[in-house]
Amino acid sequence: MEFVSLALTFSALVNIAVAASIPARRGPVVVSLTARRSPPRASFGKLGKRAASSEPLGDWFNGTDLQWFGQVQIGTPPQNFTSEFDTGSSDVLFPSTNCTSDPGCTAHKRFDPTKSSTFKTANQAFRIDFATGGGVAPSDNETALGIIANDTVAIAGLAVANQVIGLTYSQTPGFGPETFDGILGLGFGLASTTGAKPFFQSLVDNKAVDAPVYGLYFSPLKVGNAELTLGGVDSAKMTSALVPIPMNTTQTQEIGLFVINFSGIAVNKKATGIASSAVIDSGTSNVVAPSNDDAMAVYKLISPNIKLVDPLGGFAIPCDEVNNTSATIDITMGTLRVRIPPQELSVGPYPGKPGLCQTFINGGGVGIPGLWVIGGTMLKYYYSAWDVSKQELSLATTMQTAP
Ligand SMILES: *[C@@H]1O[C@H](CO)[C@@H](O)[C@H](O)[C@H]1NC(C)=O
Ligand SMILES: *[C@@H]1O[C@H](CO)[C@@H](O)[C@H](O)[C@H]1NC(C)=O
Ligand SMILES: *[C@@H]1O[C@H](CO)[C@@H](O)[C@H](O)[C@H]1NC(C)=O
Ligand SMILES: *[C@@H]1O[C@H](CO)[C@@H](O)[C@H](O)[C@H]1NC(C)=O
Ligand SMILES: *[C@@H]1O[C@H](CO)[C@@H](O)[C@H](O)[C@H]1NC(C)=O
Ligand SMILES: *[C@@H]1O[C@H](CO)[C@@H](O)[C@H](O)[C@H]1NC(C)=O
Ligand SMILES: *[C@@H]1O[C@H](CO)[C@@H](O)[C@H](O)[C@H]1NC(C)=O
Ligand SMILES: *[C@@H]1O[C@H](CO)[C@@H](O)[C@H](O)[C@H]1NC(C)=O
Ligand SMILES: *[C@@H]1O[C@H](CO)[C@@H](O)[C@H](O)[C@H]1NC(C)=O
Repeated sequence: MEFVSLALTFSALVNIAVAASIPARRGPVVVSLTARRSPPRASFGKLGKRAASSEPLGDWFNGTDLQWFGQVQIGTPPQNFTSEFDTGSSDVLFPSTNCTSDPGCTAHKRFDPTKSSTFKTANQAFRIDFATGGGVAPSDNETALGIIANDTVAIAGLAVANQVIGLTYSQTPGFGPETFDGILGLGFGLASTTGAKPFFQSLVDNKAVDAPVYGLYFSPLKVGNAELTLGGVDSAKMTSALVPIPMNTTQTQEIGLFVINFSGIAVNKKATGIASSAVIDSGTSNVVAPSNDDAMAVYKLISPNIKLVDPLGGFAIPCDEVNNTSATIDITMGTLRVRIPPQELSVGPYPGKPGLCQTFINGGGVGIPGLWVIGGTMLKYYYSAWDVSKQELSLATTMQTAP
């Protein structure tokens, strides 16, 4: 996810938009999603069937599902790219052919503005910093520098002319191994570093879609059929009705991303005592706690052998304990009990620490006290529907939802 809070300050002061650090936590009646009898938003499914466009998604997997990505076309004639779809940022960010030497770019397909008849730029510079990278490292610190430009952007046949794009000429090495070329932000305009009206908001304003809603089905690689739906939801992917999550409206409007309230986190039904707010971020692979202590408050109910191994927020467990350590994590969001099953505990071998496996919650935070970030770890077990007009997130169960 992008570092958001400072961006709001810096971009007003200097002509270079700087998104700096986001930093990015009890007791209602809990009803499981499957127990819900009637759809709270009956119109969702209908609208979805009427005019939604869907894009199949691939999955970048390395020990755990890291990111989901699909096709994006830019320019006239269209140049094809792959992109992550990131609810934790709001820019359209792609490398340009000017990015010739950074390993963060050279592995990727780059946009050639000289080959597009609809390309425009005023050569204004921008810089964007990401609080979480494509992977699970606690200190990815991905940064991109580029120029702000305009061109046609399309996904699944839905095009926006004159979309503001951040075209990079420099990207830090962390972008290199990503199996997609760019990042397409699905957050609100406030969180945009390039001053862009977000792509999906443009589709809504241009009445290119019937409903101001997009749906994400981030199934695990072994299940497949992951999908982004623009302008509705895909009811075929759900096994329950969609249920709205209580939003933290204040923070949603301050940060420009979907921020929810949760009233509890429990490990094997034992409460941690943590209640706070969280950005639900499709661009973060795992979970980020506001501090190492908050992460430890969860881990101490899982195993005494989970230890902080990187002061920036990396935790690990001996790999030979993963199979005999069982932790079911329940996060209470309003009336919903959102379940993260035990197989999420390890995200794979800890780089540079033989015998240790990295665990799914990073500490360190994203720069906003108390704010958690919940990403792929949770989204892969639920269908999510994002209403940009109501600024409301709803979840439904899927075939993967843990019982
Ligand atoms: C871009 O992708 C589309 C759909 O995958 C394909 O039909 C088209 O030929 C591709 N265009 C180029 C220039 O690769
Ligand atoms: C590429 O670099 C040239 C020369 O520095 C500059 O004029 C141009 O605006 C850059 N284009 C992009 C898309 O970065
Ligand atoms: C790009 O588009 C934005 C919004 O549509 C517009 O305000 C801006 O002037 C355009 N920039 C250029 C260089 O055409
Ligand atoms: C990432 O940023 C944090 C906070 O600014 C810093 O402490 C850390 O050293 C950086 N990590 C790398 C790999 O640059
Ligand atoms: C979220 O939490 C804030 C502060 O605790 C509270 O004011 C707000 O009403 C909560 N939102 C919902 C929808 O419960
Ligand atoms: C919701 O946001 C408000 C305002 O930022 C914050 O004070 C409050 O702690 C948040 N609520 C929860 C439950 O975290
Ligand atoms: C844990 O179990 C999985 C699947 O049963 C197996 O592939 C893996 O080798 C086991 N790991 C250890 C460290 O025993
Ligand atoms: C899991 O297995 C390891 C290695 O055999 C052992 O040290 C540990 O105590 C076991 N943990 C549990 C919870 O059984
Ligand atoms: C994939 O996982 C291995 C083992 O944890 C790690 O060494 C490597 O850096 C990871 N690759 C990426 C691109 O994250």
